[in-house]
Amino acid sequence: MSDTINQIPAPGKFITIEGVEGVGKSTNIAFIRELLEQRGLELLVTREPGGTELAEQIRELLLADHTEPVDPTAELLLMFAARAQHLHTRIEPALARGCWVLCDRFTDATYAYQGGGRQLGNGTIQILEQLVQGALRPDLTIILDLDPETGLSRATQRGELDRFEKEKLEFFQRVRATYLQRAAAEPARCAVIDAGQPLEQVKSATLEVVERLLDTESGG
Ligand code: TMP
Repeated sequence: MSDTINQIPAPGKFITIEGVEGVGKSTNIAFIRELLEQRGLELLVTREPGGTELAEQIRELLLADHTEPVDPTAELLLMFAARAQHLHTRIEPALARGCWVLCDRFTDATYAYQGGGRQLGNGTIQILEQLVQGALRPDLTIILDLDPETGLSRATQRGELDRFEKEKLEFFQRVRATYLQRAAAEPARCAVIDAGQPLEQVKSATLEVVERLLDTESGG
């Protein structure tokens, strides 16, 4: 029967959430999850570094303290090793079958933390991005923006700090500045939301940008 031709699903959309520590990514992910599930969409909620058994093990290595200094290029390669595993074994297959993917951090975090924070610059990251992702980029990136001082004090209240959270304030100022530069360079993909506003306002701003993506999808 000829209607089998119509059975190839439209690829799902890929949404990423970014921001410095303590901006409230998890709370916003819960808001977005609720909206997308209400619309009846199949959804994969995942995170980076991590998202598969192997990539979660790489995450543990990356977040742990070590007795030796961690070389920034080694850190960068581990981020992309985890990403290759996650992207090729979970994200891409999900998108291909029409599932939407909501990922807590992705390659913008590498530009912000390794490129900006560790001051590695963009050149090597662009090469690795091309190698691991080819043409794949998020359809929407939500950048929750907050001054790092406030974010870090929230993160400190959550408990023991990981290797990144122990970095100095200037590191996070560079991270934040890089996120904002990326958003300014790619306004069609990136939405910056002020995470210092009351939570209800953060929620409605977040849902508004996701609804816009849903409208594009339905041709509205
Ligand atoms: P999370 O605590 O938000 O899950 O993120 C773990 C840490 O990993 C966070 O401090 C940011 C850092 N990170 C990078 O440095 N580069 C990356 O590419 C990613 C995905 C995360």
